[in-house]
Amino acid sequence: MSAHSTTAQAHPNIALLKYWGKQDRPGNLPATPSLSITLDTLTTTTTVRHARTDSISLNGEAVEDPGIRVALADWRRDHEIPPLAIETRNNFPTAAGLASSASGFAALATAIDGHCRLGLSAGGRSALARRGSASAARSIHGGFATLCGPDWQASQLMSADSWPLKVVVAITSSAPKAVSSRDGMAISRRSSPYFDAWVSATAGAFGSMRDAVLRRDFARLAELSEASCLRMHGLMMSGDPALLYWNAGTLSCIEALRGLRQAGRNVFFTVDAGPQVKAVCTTPDARAVEELLRAQPGVQDILTVGLGGGAVVVDG
Ligand code: DP6
Repeated sequence: MSAHSTTAQAHPNIALLKYWGKQDRPGNLPATPSLSITLDTLTTTTTVRHARTDSISLNGEAVEDPGIRVALADWRRDHEIPPLAIETRNNFPTAAGLASSASGFAALATAIDGHCRLGLSAGGRSALARRGSASAARSIHGGFATLCGPDWQASQLMSADSWPLKVVVAITSSAPKAVSSRDGMAISRRSSPYFDAWVSATAGAFGSMRDAVLRRDFARLAELSEASCLRMHGLMMSGDPALLYWNAGTLSCIEALRGLRQAGRNVFFTVDAGPQVKAVCTTPDARAVEELLRAQPGVQDILTVGLGGGAVVVDG
């Protein structure tokens, strides 16, 4: 057993064009392309060291994490990865719709690549992270990232500095979500009459959203992002069982943000598989967005974050 350890850090990302649903073949391959922004400040820090058997601790407590165990078994089919003690910490609530699995698998893939000297490129780490959780593929990169075929490795579209947007997160519940993204996606694919339409509409919107980002066209990005979010939630609601991730606070925030945009502010909303609302805005509008969201019924807390960098080894 070696005392030597490697520590990596990664941040969650928020999809503006959403991934929801998988292809019917191995590798955890999304059925849709996606485009995201990686956040700063919210951080997962993961340390790995050689051990006699695998163990996982989350925020200082030993846990059984079937997702990590399955990913490790999968990664070991292609790479020399010895038994590892894995310690991971999030400085934000886990499993509350803030994409802790994205930062978690991006940090883990980066720490293991460094520790076990796998010598992977950023694309290789992204593919490894994707096999753990597809949104994690995008957290390998900072700023604006895309994940699309044919290779399904994420790439950076634009750096965080190129368009320093802000994200104001309205927390409307800190309870873990009732149905995981993975189970929810399987329900939508199996039972929603809209699934095929969702896949083709998302593929169709991908190029337009990429162009809107490259042109820094906020109004167009707002339109495309809200459409992707609402279509995804429409899909979720149309399955059997129907999935409704929102609560009353979610809807209050959405209505308030639509009003603020009509009043001329640069802001739009997005919501993932949980009840939190993420308001994406330009820096001069962030204060007004925070004040508005704080005043909404059901909002428990507000977090304002900027766009951040990709996953990196910080020690080891
Ligand atoms: C709504 O990446 O968590 O956040 O690949 O099964 O781990 P798995 O799913 P996951 O799903 C993310 C869903 C989403 C949209 C997105 O991030 O694109």
